[in-house]
Amino acid sequence: MENIKLDYSKTLNFIQEKEILAYQDEIKNHIKALYNGTGKGSEFLGWVELPSAISYEEIKDIQSTADNFKKNCEVVVVIGIGGSYLGAKAIIDALSDNFAAAKPTKDPLVIYAGQNISEDYMTELRSLLNTKKWGIVVISKSGTTTEPALAFRILKADLEKKYGKEEAANKIVAITDESKGALRILANQEGYKTFIIPDNVGGRFSVLTPVGLLPIAIAGFNISDFVKGSVDMQDNTHSNISFEKNIAAQYAAVRNVLLNKGKNVEIMANYNPKLHYIAEWWKQLYGESEGKEGKGIFPASVDFTSDLHSMGQYIQEGQRMIFETVVSVVKPNTQVVLEKDDANLDGLNYLSGKRMDEVNKMAELGTILAHVDGGVPNIRIELPKLNEYYLGQLIYFYEIACGISGYILGVNPFDQPGVEAYKKNMFALLEKPGFEEYTKAIKAKL
Ligand code: PA5
Repeated sequence: MENIKLDYSKTLNFIQEKEILAYQDEIKNHIKALYNGTGKGSEFLGWVELPSAISYEEIKDIQSTADNFKKNCEVVVVIGIGGSYLGAKAIIDALSDNFAAAKPTKDPLVIYAGQNISEDYMTELRSLLNTKKWGIVVISKSGTTTEPALAFRILKADLEKKYGKEEAANKIVAITDESKGALRILANQEGYKTFIIPDNVGGRFSVLTPVGLLPIAIAGFNISDFVKGSVDMQDNTHSNISFEKNIAAQYAAVRNVLLNKGKNVEIMANYNPKLHYIAEWWKQLYGESEGKEGKGIFPASVDFTSDLHSMGQYIQEGQRMIFETVVSVVKPNTQVVLEKDDANLDGLNYLSGKRMDEVNKMAELGTILAHVDGGVPNIRIELPKLNEYYLGQLIYFYEIACGISGYILGVNPFDQPGVEAYKKNMFALLEKPGFEEYTKAIKAKL
């Protein structure tokens, strides 16, 4: 098996190799702190050794639960928000046919709810479910998050109306805390099959728990290969791996050197629409982990070449605070060869005999060179193929690099105190019992 690769040579017009290497010893210590639990947020480090800790029995249990859904459902609704849905969505989208929703598939279509509070979204989802055999995977670590709780209340009632309470309970799986939260109480009372999110694994680091693995298995993908990829990346990013071979250490160092030079926005770019949600997952991972205490690199993303016709202008010539990280897939899973056209009215015969991917790769290379010329340093991450194994590597690479990078910044990468502010205001505005004082205060501001 190959490994995913990192190339930061196109940052070296802007920063020096010695500035990157200066982080070597510090990073070794940060990796040790992540493993030994001696750094900030040490109560949330369960994810560090998660890949190598997943047992055969756990995988078997997840797979057999997924097989049950496959037998009985055309559609499975995964209810969750943030870290409780983005990882699964990122991996499933990366591995799925772009048009899966419109094609017959042997595995259930996985769709999502509880990641927004839009009434139209819910209405349209319910009208689809009305015509399908369906089930629910409800995911909430705290078991108290408003968005998924709201969606679950509505969809649980629909499912019970359709199948009766008892049969509906067999079509619901809850993934939550072992003992705390409203969802745990409900799941125990209703007798749902449950999986546990370990206490020491935060939402955005939970893809390698049932939170990610169950939906991925339901969608028909190989979770053993996915876990194997992450185990191999764990082995390759340990503190005993030299800096020259440790791509997570390199990535964390380079982005922090760039930040020190005023490059405080990182744009993840892809040339394959299947990777759109990988960027969404990454933005949550890095945004929520690093954006605190007035610090952090702002994570943004673009889908190329589409966004070269919109955001491309800003990246090329706007404020010079950006660096770009391209995630590139070496080999597409299929081939499209361009044929000769005798009339050649579109002038494209110079491309005949070439694969569409050759054009895409030249667009990628041409863009990287243009952006570097325009003052945008470039990091490139290369996946040999889009499959479960390399995506497993990618996920763990980003997680461990995030832990290292957060420690370089000096923040606690494993909390998210800032996400409470909107909740407090929303509850106050909705006059939730217990929020009376806040309600009075917020109403005075309106
Ligand atoms: O990363 C995180 O911790 C958050 O994004 C959570 O995953 C998100 O807020 C959902 O929380 P919960 O799983 O408790 O419903």
